[in-house]
Amino acid sequence: MSSTLFTFTGARVVDPASGRDEIANVVVEGDRIAAVGEDSRGLRIDADGLVAAPGLVDLHVHLREPGGEDAETVASGTRAAALGGFTAVCPMANTQPVCDHVGVVEQVLRLARDAGHCDVYPVGAITRDLAGAELAELGSMAAIGVNCFSDDGHPVQSAQVMRRALAYAKTWDAIICNHSEEATLTAGAQLNEGEASTRLGLAGWPHEAEEIVVVRDLILAEGLGARLHVPHVSTAGTVELVRAAKARGVRVTAEATPHHFALTDARAEGYDAVNKVNPPLRTDADVAAVRAGLADGTIDAIATDHAPHAPEHKEQAWLHAPCGMLGLETVLAVTLTELVHTGVLTLAQAVEKLSTGPARTRDIAGHGGPIAPGQPANLVLFDPEARWRVDAAKLASRSRNNPFDGAELRGQVLHTVLRGRFTTRDGETVEVGEPAGARA
Ligand code: DOR
Repeated sequence: MSSTLFTFTGARVVDPASGRDEIANVVVEGDRIAAVGEDSRGLRIDADGLVAAPGLVDLHVHLREPGGEDAETVASGTRAAALGGFTAVCPMANTQPVCDHVGVVEQVLRLARDAGHCDVYPVGAITRDLAGAELAELGSMAAIGVNCFSDDGHPVQSAQVMRRALAYAKTWDAIICNHSEEATLTAGAQLNEGEASTRLGLAGWPHEAEEIVVVRDLILAEGLGARLHVPHVSTAGTVELVRAAKARGVRVTAEATPHHFALTDARAEGYDAVNKVNPPLRTDADVAAVRAGLADGTIDAIATDHAPHAPEHKEQAWLHAPCGMLGLETVLAVTLTELVHTGVLTLAQAVEKLSTGPARTRDIAGHGGPIAPGQPANLVLFDPEARWRVDAAKLASRSRNNPFDGAELRGQVLHTVLRGRFTTRDGETVEVGEPAGARA
């Protein structure tokens, strides 16, 4: 049993799970929260001016291992996650080999446990080899705890396959998360279809390509009473479809990425492929709709879609570069800068979207709060005001493709605590085995 005993003193405790938002001390003993209030025991860590929140939870990351270790590994990606304030992340199945069977799930879990930076909840593939034809081994993956399946990056085109997947998943109350994209409408597409694509002379990705699939999947999920999660919502139309479906009781949840609520397709001017992503950056109106969807509860979670690509791949001409952007180390600051300091969300709503909401969406126990005695000590402490400039070269990720590189952001992670152990201390990685109080 660990002898860890420390107290964060004078933090602003923001805990959507209990509704708490007040200045308090948080006492951590062993792997649990021992007290929240005036108590102070063990090592005292000054948290005056800091926010203490439940550790962040990311529903959508790409850790690239196995098979893409030049871009990221489970160790480097979870280290980046801990630096970003995360205590739990859900890696997608588009690895090599694909995470479409128990062997890869177990490999990713073992790599994550060995690294110790973050809890990992792998997403299993919907179809074998992400080919969209035969279902993957959903049952055996569900039997070892996988409760979400996605062919992310490879949209399921067949309504029949999607319907079967939803029906099977329902038997374990698992979630199907379909990358919503109708492939005939996006053949050869390079960015959002609109003014920017016309000006740049590149084929565009129409918003209808996303919405047509969202409509289909909502209808299928509604008919079956199955759980559907809509990833990376990027269009105003999708926000409205999810809003209407929720209103009529469909079991649907949704996520939005920092790039879809902060950036537009104007970023493509200049052809810097760091801005190439799938679904693409859209228009001001879409950004406004995504923000409104976050504010009114239509969108349950902010998820990064952290998609590392090695520089030799990503730093090619736009046409040849792969889609994807980093997000783990900047999402909290982007959310605070773009949504909280601008009044779109309250601080408590932002914490809800980054922690409590995603934990609830995927039934992840022990994360997302509450910050209360007896609960696992999974926490993030951040300075909501601190300004810093993103330097992609200094990120812990193995890749550099962060579209916020060079931006000045407001809000900085100081400490991340996973079951009572620091994974990040004063903004720096703490390796497994370092004593908890070593840097007092
Ligand atoms: O931009 C993207 N990159 N979108 C996806 O859906 C997949 C991801 C990746 O794996 O790089």
